[in-house]
Amino acid sequence: MTSHAFRASILHYLDDPRLQGESAREYFEDGLLLIENGRIAALGPYSDLIKTLDSHITVEDYSGHLIMPGFIDLHTHYPQTEMIAAYGRQLLEWLNTYTFPTERKFADKDYAKAIATFFVDELLRNGTTTAMVFGTVHKQSVDALFEVAQAQDMRLLAGKVMMDRNAPDFLTDTAQSAYDDSAELIERWHEKGRLHYAVTPRFAPTSTPEQLQKAGQLLQDYPGVYLQSHLAENRDELAWVATLFPNARDYLDAYEQFGLLGPKSIYAHGIHLSEHACQRLADSGTVLAHCPTSNLFLGSGLFDMERMHAQGVRFAIGTDVGAGTSFSMFQTLGDAYKIQQLQSVSLAPDQSFYLATLGGARALSLETHLGNFLPGKEADFVVINLKSTPLMAFRTGTCQTLNEVLFVLSMLGDDRLIEATYILGSKAYQREN
Ligand code: GUN
Ligand code: ZN
Repeated sequence: MTSHAFRASILHYLDDPRLQGESAREYFEDGLLLIENGRIAALGPYSDLIKTLDSHITVEDYSGHLIMPGFIDLHTHYPQTEMIAAYGRQLLEWLNTYTFPTERKFADKDYAKAIATFFVDELLRNGTTTAMVFGTVHKQSVDALFEVAQAQDMRLLAGKVMMDRNAPDFLTDTAQSAYDDSAELIERWHEKGRLHYAVTPRFAPTSTPEQLQKAGQLLQDYPGVYLQSHLAENRDELAWVATLFPNARDYLDAYEQFGLLGPKSIYAHGIHLSEHACQRLADSGTVLAHCPTSNLFLGSGLFDMERMHAQGVRFAIGTDVGAGTSFSMFQTLGDAYKIQQLQSVSLAPDQSFYLATLGGARALSLETHLGNFLPGKEADFVVINLKSTPLMAFRTGTCQTLNEVLFVLSMLGDDRLIEATYILGSKAYQREN
């Protein structure tokens, strides 16, 4: 058995702070995290726990740093890494102008592997240890990403884009080939180690009803796989869906008709939704991925968290790179705060970091494995350097409370805050100073 321990300030969430207040979080100013065979063995005050440890166990001293569970990114596109920050368009034009030409390159497996490697490195340097990721229409794009994630032993979810209309010929499959390629990938990768497959129709406009039916069939034929797609992001998109699916009562119904809702279905955005659609999301346990930097970047609209809470819709946070403008969960939470401010709502810092950790794990139905430091969970965590920049050191030095520190991290933070990232108790990233 391999054991090691980490000394630092340690924070994690046991429940949703919106419902449970401060009792939802546990914080040890001078804490010790004990890890055995890649899993959490114990957490407590340093002064108590150190006495119980065998003398052979090494203690890594991160005093002055803050340890938290690894961040969970509910929605992102690895092929779009190279076109992050592409100027000046809203969703549909942005897809045609920038996204589709870029995604074409992933027909080449070697190219895909190189970008997947860069992407996973970037996740780790930002403290993101789990992500739900779009590939491209090419099945080899997903092989490339899973190979890289497997080499890092990361818990990662991904899928091949299904897209059989309204896209260039070089990026389309067919209803049947999408089924066959997805099935092949599911058999090769789903539940292999820490990997999970997500059936991935891009969004309703780029799939025929026949293809969405095949997506539903995949969920039936392979119980336990996930589904990821996009929903109600942009007003022009909504109008387009209404013309493409004249028999659907609304955008959500274009998916619902084909059995694509449920607790393992994750839809990015969900900005422009009726009360009735929210109710069907809630009733089916379907999850939304709120992607704040993307929504601001593409001018898509303001996600209404209060309404989702009121109606019981599950959600957590995604970066949506490359429409999203950062890999950093800190920057993403910063924009989430601002989006709520524009609606006269103040997102509490505890709520933000809950959403990025345990909230994300719950949204993915992975909370038995991930999200906090309860004994037996997988030891994916980040070490945060509160003095990573002169401004950060100066500002956190003036904070009186943990809430203030957390808020400052989410407003001013970026990848420079991440001192190290651990996967299953092993260091996967170390910042070079
Ligand atoms: N809707 C369909 N495809 C995409 C995509 O790649 N990015 C975003 N933000 N929205 C989409
Ligand atoms: Zn997206």
